[in-house]
Amino acid sequence: MTEPAGAVKVRPLEWRDCSELGENYRLAYRERDRGEPIWLHLLGTVPSVPDEVTWFSGLYRAVLAGNAVCRVAEVDGRAVGLVSVHRVGPDRDAENGHVGELGILIHPEHRGRGIGSTLFASVLEACRGTFELVRLSVFSENARGIALYRKFGFVPYGHLPAHARRAGKYYDAELMILDLRAPSPKG
Ligand SMILES: CC(C)(COP(=O)(O)OP(=O)(O)OC[C@H]1O[C@@H](n2cnc3c(N)ncnc32)[C@H](O)[C@@H]1OP(=O)(O)O)[C@@H](O)C(=O)NCCC(=O)NCCS
Repeated sequence: MTEPAGAVKVRPLEWRDCSELGENYRLAYRERDRGEPIWLHLLGTVPSVPDEVTWFSGLYRAVLAGNAVCRVAEVDGRAVGLVSVHRVGPDRDAENGHVGELGILIHPEHRGRGIGSTLFASVLEACRGTFELVRLSVFSENARGIALYRKFGFVPYGHLPAHARRAGKYYDAELMILDLRAPSPKG
């Protein structure tokens, strides 16, 4: 069945996503370079395409090995968002193997229309059984990100002063965590 135009489809990561998700990531650098507030922790310079292929291969490999859970948002056949939760420890049996670290990025033209919420609902459900705790860090000024994380039950557990330095200015970050050992709201 074909999706209606503009409808959001959420699905697992696929090998073909490399180029579109890499392009979404490069757009974040362009936002930053234009002086727009992209409240995501970025490298000093834009990663090269080979760097992104290395990053994507590592992510895909982690998914296949059961060390990462990902969900992709697709609109009109294009990958417009990615949420990933990576195992913090080296494997499931490591003493920190039950903890996942979450990251999310949505294409700028698709933010603020519920895609982050749709991705969160799907990825957190998929994390049950793989991770017991999911944590993340977020710029303190990222009101939309913090609203999203709170909505899904993340609670603050720390504050990082001057976590990021961008164009000579310092930005604080909040640490947030979700305990998946609590029963699912769905029961
Ligand atoms: C942060 C991000 C992932 C959120 O995804 P999104 O699809 O834009 O978010 P949603 O549309 O699902 O909105 C999430 C919540 O934030 C709220 N929100 C939206 N804009 C807001 C704003 N400017 N201030 C406060 N809350 C806001 C929404 O009302 C919504 O809550 P509700 O459903 O209860 O109304 C996305 O905007 C993004 O990729 N931003 C750039 C990268 C980034 O910041 N990544 C996170 C790094 S930790």
